[in-house]
Amino acid sequence: MAEPLREVGIIGREIGIIGGGRVAAALASSLGEQLDVALHARHPERVRLSPHGPSVPVDADLALVASRELIIIAVSDDAIPEVARALAAQLRSQPRPAGLEGGVTCVLHTSGATTGARSLAPLLEVPGVEVGSVHPLLAVPSAAAPGYFTLAPFVIETSGSVAAERARALVEQLEGEPIELPDSTEETKARYHALATMVATGTVTLVDRAADALGVDAVQRAAFRDAFGRLAMTAAVNVSRGPGPEVLTGPVARGDGATLELHDRALEGHPVEGLHAAVRRAAEDMVDRGRQEEGGA
Ligand SMILES: NC(=O)c1ccc[n+]([C@@H]2O[C@H](COP(=O)([O-])OP(=O)(O)OC[C@H]3O[C@@H](n4cnc5c(N)ncnc54)[C@H](OP(=O)(O)O)[C@@H]3O)[C@@H](O)[C@H]2O)c1
Repeated sequence: MAEPLREVGIIGREIGIIGGGRVAAALASSLGEQLDVALHARHPERVRLSPHGPSVPVDADLALVASRELIIIAVSDDAIPEVARALAAQLRSQPRPAGLEGGVTCVLHTSGATTGARSLAPLLEVPGVEVGSVHPLLAVPSAAAPGYFTLAPFVIETSGSVAAERARALVEQLEGEPIELPDSTEETKARYHALATMVATGTVTLVDRAADALGVDAVQRAAFRDAFGRLAMTAAVNVSRGPGPEVLTGPVARGDGATLELHDRALEGHPVEGLHAAVRRAAEDMVDRGRQEEGGA
């Protein structure tokens, strides 16, 4: 028998989600077990919910979602302002719930690139609305199963205290781990997102380019992409164990100059030469700074 719906602290029992893609569906599947979730998508037939999750009503009508005190917008980054304008018009035209926090409606988007205040600006002009963003710092696939966000970091920034509390409660409900940006400026958020993208895109690109640069046939390339991918996983596990200079392995960490020269010669004139040199310089710089900090400590 399904568990009865329960009141979940400040986020209440009812949540509205706008979007029909990966993140909207994953949130609906993870939250729909215990909360009353209304999902609004412009093409409901395209929504791919997990077959292992609860059944969540997908409604093409914005009014139901707009009646919720916590609304999450999970559409393409470029579409957020347009959806915010439509939601603002909807909120102005319908009576608001007399809710937990004096009727404050909180609208959060899930993009890492901009603040809520910028992308959801039309909503800030509606009385009683606070905005913000909750950015899940992980790759979300189609039809992600319930629990997908467990232990995921979520970067939060908000325009007000009620939105901040609800955003934290939402992340707690998802069993994620909130990280708050030190300030909510556009520059901070853009820098954070560019760096997060550098990490994720960089890992995939390095692994793929490295397998390609071996110059082997397609079958071996696939095998080495897999092998280099596993190497990247072990390196990523090391990253979580301590600061870079302490957990780095390889010839830069050991100071094996002859091996480094051998590597430089092996990749001379090769398409990945620049990439390899940039990574080596960054690693040497990191190790030097680590030594300086150690010396100064
Ligand atoms: N996937 C991830 O790994 C991930 C991780 C962290 C954060 N995010 C963020 O989460 C948000 C959603 O990403 P996603 O991966 O779920 O994207 P997605 O799978 O590509 O889905 C995007 C959704 O946006 C809808 N959409 C686009 N334009 C719209 C409009 N004008 N009005 C209404 N709906 C519109 C699309 O609807 P149609 O189907 O009708 O075209 C589609 O359902 C983005 O801000 C993204 O940066 C994604």
